[in-house]
Amino acid sequence: MHQDCERILLTQEMIARRVAEVGKAVDAHYAGKTPLIIGILKGSIIFFSDFIRLLTCPVELDFMAVSSYGSGSVSSGNLRIKKDIDRDVAGRDVIIVEDIIDSGFTLANLKALLSERGAKSVAVVTLLNKIGRREYEIEPDYNCFNIENEFVVGYGLDYDQKYRNLPYIGILKRSVYEK
Ligand code: IMP
Ligand code: MG
Repeated sequence: MHQDCERILLTQEMIARRVAEVGKAVDAHYAGKTPLIIGILKGSIIFFSDFIRLLTCPVELDFMAVSSYGSGSVSSGNLRIKKDIDRDVAGRDVIIVEDIIDSGFTLANLKALLSERGAKSVAVVTLLNKIGRREYEIEPDYNCFNIENEFVVGYGLDYDQKYRNLPYIGILKRSVYEK
C-alpha cells in the first residue's frame, strides 16, 4: 500500500467485480442503441476504460473537462467547461461517466447542460457516491459503491493530481492534505 494511504477501502478485485456487475446492467439497458459515452476528465479515465469494455452495444466516446468555481456556499451555475465534447448530443442517448459524486454540483450542472443541448436521454454512471455530502439534487442512474465522507484516491482519483495510478482505492491520510 502507498505510504500516504491510511488504508485500502476497495481492492482491485472488489472494484473489478462490482464494475462488471454495473457494466452488465448498463449493457442490458442499452441493447439495440448506440449511446454516446462521455467521460469526465481526468478522474474517470480508469473506470471509463474498464466500463466501456463491458458493453456489447456499439458506442461512441467523447470527453469533457470541467471545473467548479465558487463551490461551497455559492449557488450553482458556475460550472466552467475547460474542454467540451466534439460530438453533437442532440437526439442521442448520453451516458456520463464520473469518478465520484460529492456535493453533486458537477453532475447536476452537466446533466442539465446536456439535456438543454437536446440529448434524448442522459444517464449518470458513477464509480463512487458520497451520499452524506449531497448539496445538489442528483441521483446516479448507476453507482458502483456508496462511500463514507472520507477523501479517497486511486483508480483515477487524485489529490493534487497525484495517486491516480494506484490500482486500488485508498483513504488518504489526513496529514497529507492538512499540512
Ligand atoms: P461535486 O461536484 O461536489 O459532486 O464533486 C465532484 C468532484 O470532486 C469529483 O469529480 C472529484 O474530482 C472531486 N472529489 C470529490 N471527492 C473526492 C475524493 O474523495 N477524492 C478525489 N476527488 C474527489
Ligand atoms: Mg474530478
